[in-house]
Amino acid sequence: MYRRLIAPGALAASLLLAIPASAADFEPGAAGIGDPYYPTYGNGGYDVSHYDLRLEYQPKTDLLEGTATILASSTQDLSRFNLDFGLTASEVRVNGKKARFAKSGVQELEVTPAAGLPKGTPFTVVVKYAGKPSEVKLWGFTSWQRTPDGGVAANEPEAAAWWFPSNDHPRDKATYDVSVSVPDGTQAISNGTLQSQSSKLGWTRFNWRSSKPQATYLATLAVGKFDITTDTTANGLPVVNAYSKDLGANEGAAKASVERTTEVAEWLETVFGTYPFEALGGYVPNVPSSFALETQTRPFYSPKQFANGSNVSVVVHELAHQWYGDSVSVDDWKDIWINEGFARYSQWLWSEKEGEGTAQELADYVYAQHPADDPFWQVEPGDPGAENQFDAAVYDRGAVAVQALRNAVGEKKFFAILKGWPKVHAYGNAGVSDFVRYAEKVSGKPLAGLFDTWLYQPVKPAASALGALSAPEQPKSWKKIAATNGVHGER
Ligand code: TRP
Ligand code: ZN
Repeated sequence: MYRRLIAPGALAASLLLAIPASAADFEPGAAGIGDPYYPTYGNGGYDVSHYDLRLEYQPKTDLLEGTATILASSTQDLSRFNLDFGLTASEVRVNGKKARFAKSGVQELEVTPAAGLPKGTPFTVVVKYAGKPSEVKLWGFTSWQRTPDGGVAANEPEAAAWWFPSNDHPRDKATYDVSVSVPDGTQAISNGTLQSQSSKLGWTRFNWRSSKPQATYLATLAVGKFDITTDTTANGLPVVNAYSKDLGANEGAAKASVERTTEVAEWLETVFGTYPFEALGGYVPNVPSSFALETQTRPFYSPKQFANGSNVSVVVHELAHQWYGDSVSVDDWKDIWINEGFARYSQWLWSEKEGEGTAQELADYVYAQHPADDPFWQVEPGDPGAENQFDAAVYDRGAVAVQALRNAVGEKKFFAILKGWPKVHAYGNAGVSDFVRYAEKVSGKPLAGLFDTWLYQPVKPAASALGALSAPEQPKSWKKIAATNGVHGER
């Protein structure tokens, strides 16, 4: 734009006629936000500040319908823009006026407003929609898990498109009001605080609010019949946990784990600083999957996580993500080590505190477990590639990298880094290179070599780099930690 204005002819013309940028200068927003692993995820040209979802879900038929109202602002002169969405839109309005819309690609919904949106304009998009999320296959799968009594949206990185239209990338975070009406006797669980609940003509509406910036994949919806426990933390935050009434033999172990959420969060505060959100909890729906996910304020746990008895370690992992992943989110998905390396490391610290093996012992054990020719060492946790985004190496080699940092900078600086990072980048986004720079700043040491060794070389580092023992015993906590691990493999 500027360049155009200083060209003498154009400058004269624009001064003389004082015409605003013509509609011809307005361009479509990009179909992707610019993530190298997932070029079509998210979108360009605008930024969302708030999602208001007013939905109705019928467990009998899996029909989800309702209205999404999206508050956004244009970041360029915008002729049209995309949302990411898998269900079927019946009407789209921009600033109250009907907009043209069309599906394209796998999950793109192209919206053409009646008039272009000049850069920096706040605008409102209303999308009316319906669909059966379990029947919608994007990239060959659905992220909506049906249960006998309802359904659940929880997946990573793809989850939102099965239940609401969005700018589906962690770089565009927003606040949420999620209001869901379900038949009486059924509940709808989402993130944050339950603002209110009311029943009319056989339907109950649950109004949830998540008031801190939240990435789209961390928004969750679970409909079903739950046992709900509520409490308040010592600091006055509401705790809401929900357990499917249908957990069978896993019920006791699930409750014995997730009911320790407040205690775990209190301990994590001593390591990572003040808990960043306004509510706490967890939920265990009767899904067939075996993974857990750090959905904001209220992690998702599959019942299978508790098939061998209680597992507090997985609760530690998902709650650690509230700082590392949820409050401070990846810039690009290649930054996944910031999430998983630290969530895994928090399990090691918990083990250390419980007297079940120190983090160094766990690091030694990981190191000894994988011989030099194990493909484990070919994965670079600092940039693992989309196919290996959730490879065990991102977790375990990633946590060994954190231990190597601890050894290099000493206890005091190390814990200052662990606590400082979530504060410096609270509610924002940051990448691996930002972390390296931050650790160097706090420790006053050059650390590029250390991080290169542990995060970016496709070879097993020398034992001396970790000070690793040769034949360590299996730490007591290993199996519970590995249980969350094995589960990560089997999505
Ligand atoms: N982030 C999740 C965790 O650490 C793990 C995860 C990876 C996952 N890929 C997933 C969860 C896909 C659900 C779906 O707990
Ligand atoms: Zn994780």
